[in-house]
Amino acid sequence: MKSTNQLILSELREDHRNMAIILNLLEETAESTEAGEDPDFLLIEEIMRYMMVYADAVHHPKEDLVYAELRKHRPDLADGLDDVPEEHWLIAALGTRLRSDVDAIIAGAAVRREQLVVDIDQYVRRLREHMHWEEDDLFPRVDKMIAEDAHGFNVGDTLRIKDPVFEQQIEFAFRRVMASLKGR
Ligand SMILES: [Fe+2]
Ligand SMILES: [Fe+2]
Repeated sequence: MKSTNQLILSELREDHRNMAIILNLLEETAESTEAGEDPDFLLIEEIMRYMMVYADAVHHPKEDLVYAELRKHRPDLADGLDDVPEEHWLIAALGTRLRSDVDAIIAGAAVRREQLVVDIDQYVRRLREHMHWEEDDLFPRVDKMIAEDAHGFNVGDTLRIKDPVFEQQIEFAFRRVMASLKGR
């Protein structure tokens, strides 16, 4: 049976798989915009809202707690961890910029398509790079800490609270994303 710590790691990896699918979807909207088509701006807006309420507000803070444990218990595995909070901050800032582009377009303001494509591209690239770093380097270090745990710590308890009401609201609030993902 998996320990709570291992479950947290599985959840973080599953988040990455989901985010990778969402980023592919976002990239497709940039490609169609570049090809001169009208992208579904409401879909882009919904994707960015999802990234803010999930990636920025849940996934990254959860990782910050896990990495804090890594730093505390295994300073020998903590190389480069100081850069993570800034990367999370930067990704959130790029996301905010992209969301303001699309909010402005929906509100009828003149935002150049080239700007939208550049901002989507930067966001997707930065978040993908960050996730690869975590998958290839940081998560395996956390695996190692868990496997060699000599401290009996548990990163899990405070992190595994689920709110069924909020999750149902999410389903309703992100129906466009859900519909776009069907059949993938
Ligand atoms: Fe992260
Ligand atoms: Fe992550």
